[in-house]
Amino acid sequence: MASNYTENFTVEKCKTSKINDVDFDDLKFGSVFSDHMLVCDYKNGTWEAPKITPYQPITLEPSSKIFHYGQSIFEGMKAYKDDNGSVFLFRPTDNCKRLNISAKRLAMPELPEAYFIDGLKALLELEKDWIPTAEGSALYIRPFMFATGQGFHASPADSYKFIIACAPSGAYFSGQVKVLIEEQYSRSANGGVGFAKAGGNYAGQFYPTQLAKDKGYQQVIWTDDNTHDYIEEAGAMNIFVRINDTLLTVPTSDRILDGITRKSILSIAEAEGIKTEVRKIKVSELIEASENGSLKELFGAGTAAVVSPISGFGFKGQDYELPKLENTYGALLKKRITDIQTNKVDDPYGWRV
Ligand code: COI
Repeated sequence: MASNYTENFTVEKCKTSKINDVDFDDLKFGSVFSDHMLVCDYKNGTWEAPKITPYQPITLEPSSKIFHYGQSIFEGMKAYKDDNGSVFLFRPTDNCKRLNISAKRLAMPELPEAYFIDGLKALLELEKDWIPTAEGSALYIRPFMFATGQGFHASPADSYKFIIACAPSGAYFSGQVKVLIEEQYSRSANGGVGFAKAGGNYAGQFYPTQLAKDKGYQQVIWTDDNTHDYIEEAGAMNIFVRINDTLLTVPTSDRILDGITRKSILSIAEAEGIKTEVRKIKVSELIEASENGSLKELFGAGTAAVVSPISGFGFKGQDYELPKLENTYGALLKKRITDIQTNKVDDPYGWRV
């Protein structure tokens, strides 16, 4: 039965929870979904009031433009629960802002921030039992928007759906991550959509990543589309490189996602007294640093994977191993950020909500 939640929201609760079917001691990443979702439709030039409904299939016409022209964007967030059962989000308005940056680039309507934030809070109110508390786990939250409007004309749709679904999740990667520096394919180009979280940006990675997997690597390090001389991202994550004691990452641009974990890590590293540099990084600099021993660490950073150490990389048929250090920047920064996210320490930045 639908009942009023707030002035604008309606909530339809599921009849039976699936929570007892889920093994919270053996959670994979993003493969089981919680009981409810938030749904909001855009029609006739306006967003309708959000609804919370049971998590369930959606029906679309075959002519919906999502299937033909790929108007589809998403965000990745996590909810955490502390020992007292309080629930926390991390920099959620940044996700909303980025969703709307992606929406603009894909000619989709921007979503009012209150729908995103209040909707998410209302959803989490219902789903808080689904937030796992084991170390390294969280409730992964997937806000996404796609074109429901119909037609084969290659132009923006006139209606859209915004959904937030949740998946109690463990670690994104299991085991070591060895990466291949990509020399042929590229993820994004100047003037393109690389900075947006467009579904197609990820679909375009699958084939080159599969080729890398066939060669024994788990991920690809993307290089610039023009020269393939500069590193850009690590799979679906931003990339960090430690050379001697300096932590480097590449500047955001048309081609690079403005990662929330990326910018948080930069701030935390600076507060820890770690020297950081945001600048372009040549593949040849990485090779040279590996050969002369100054390359200490390589890691990817993102919401799903948090901080994911890279154990080695391949380039032009040769493999380069990263040293096995005791105290890494990656481990320190991962601890600092997850301690803030899970309310284990004070949050001097005001990121925790
Ligand atoms: C995230 O880190 O949340 C992402 O959006 C990447 C996704 C491919 C899992």
